[in-house]
Amino acid sequence: MSNVFKGRSLNVIEDFSIAERRYFFQKVFELKKAILAGDNEVMDSFRINDPDFGIYSVFLENSTRTKESFKNAAKFHHVKVNELLTNASSINKGESFADTFNTVTGYRNSIFIVRSTVEGLTSYLSNETAEYARRNGLPYTPAFINAGDGKHEHPTQELLDEFTFLEDNDMNFDSIHVALVGDLYHGRTVHSKADGLKLFKEVKVDLIAPPELQMPESYVELMLENGFTVRMFASIEEYLQQEDISDKWYFTRPQLERMGERVLQKADFLRQSITFRKEFMKKLRPGTRFYHPLPRHKEHPTIPTWLDETELNGWERQSINGYYCRITLIGLIAGSIGDDFVPEDVSVPQEEEEDYIEEVPTSSVKKEKEYSEGIRPIQNGLVIDHICKGDRPKEIRAHMNLISSVLGLDDERGGQWISCGHDGSYKGIIFRPDARDLERKDLKRLASVAPGCTLNVIREGRVERKYRLHMPPRIYNFDDLCCKNEACITHPSNKENVPAIFYRTADEHFECAYCGRFHTFKQIWNRQ
Ligand code: NCD
Repeated sequence: MSNVFKGRSLNVIEDFSIAERRYFFQKVFELKKAILAGDNEVMDSFRINDPDFGIYSVFLENSTRTKESFKNAAKFHHVKVNELLTNASSINKGESFADTFNTVTGYRNSIFIVRSTVEGLTSYLSNETAEYARRNGLPYTPAFINAGDGKHEHPTQELLDEFTFLEDNDMNFDSIHVALVGDLYHGRTVHSKADGLKLFKEVKVDLIAPPELQMPESYVELMLENGFTVRMFASIEEYLQQEDISDKWYFTRPQLERMGERVLQKADFLRQSITFRKEFMKKLRPGTRFYHPLPRHKEHPTIPTWLDETELNGWERQSINGYYCRITLIGLIAGSIGDDFVPEDVSVPQEEEEDYIEEVPTSSVKKEKEYSEGIRPIQNGLVIDHICKGDRPKEIRAHMNLISSVLGLDDERGGQWISCGHDGSYKGIIFRPDARDLERKDLKRLASVAPGCTLNVIREGRVERKYRLHMPPRIYNFDDLCCKNEACITHPSNKENVPAIFYRTADEHFECAYCGRFHTFKQIWNRQ
């Protein structure tokens, strides 16, 4: 049987299915037991044991636990371990990430562990280095492990957090009730929880943070979509005033380095609402555990140090578990373990190419409408109708300008107006007499910038063809697409020259394929 883990990248927690994660935890459990008991035979069964197998660690942001546990985990495998000294590399001479990582790929390295402020970096690099390996006939394809990318995700922290929760849940996947306390806005470890906690069948999440540090809406939405029960509280104090208190508290530190000036000024004040105090002790449920990805601040720890010696301390074991989890992960990706995993049947019926460009037979157009150009009906040209139905006139007007620009119709004669239907709702109409016929790629652009609109092609005073356009499942390959997240690898300010790609979400947003940021159809275009 082939090993499904071999050569895989872990960019976001969802890259591993629930069944794969369950198998992973079973292996971590086995390894931890063997290491603590000094069982060399089991330990050896995990090892790669190949001095030529190359693992590269690249940390472009500060780190202690993630970096050191990975380094030690890599050494456990008796392989070649290298570290890119990022403050002494050509990244500082203006070299692109692609060129830097391609270079070291060439020196027989096949696992990269990367931390960066740039979101979506490892997803991008796994494609780039695969191309480089192919071009140069290298007998391996590099795998990437995201060790934290900006505010986006931290999938290996998620794995070790889940493993620690499981240990305290008797390795039971039925249900979990977790309180997330702290800087939920900037902390990537809590963002990974939105998909990570799907591991459990029934999930209740309490989000405890002042409004400035509360969980971004898109992650709350994702949690709800994933079927979690979600509640919000502005402080620990407020949380403890109600009865239904969790027995698992996951703290995250205020991420000062990511805060804007406005929030930073209030940091001391905000910290108070997410710091544990002695008087809270009596309200805790028996058997409660606290967790923290760490580090905690030496002057202002949100878990005070007097708690270290108490039963609440789950964070030290959690940190040690990082070592076992990372040994296991590297072993799976290298293929030294994982052969006995039986993948679930994922054979989904082949989806037909979805038709988001729907041609409406003109015979079904009830009454032949006459679109007029000034006082005369249009003889030839294009009419785009039903634009932003239901929006306010001001918004519709602004959006019609964007549509005209996206379709390259700014230089054509014609106009646009806003009409009001019987139900009192507004919609926009764009007229372009004499405009050229639109090609399929133009129709795709129109469907992406004005989903729900209709396009009428008028010839000799009659509607010759009519299309109803729906949001396409994905959009890419256009130079003027742009993710609005400045930290994203595709954002022009990062100058990495990575084209944006978007996927349609269940609730009709466009999600960036790299950083996961949600956009409306109005937001994905780059217009200065
Ligand atoms: C976290 C991180 O870097 O995202 N730390 C970690 O990996 N152990 C959390 C943090 O920095 O607060």
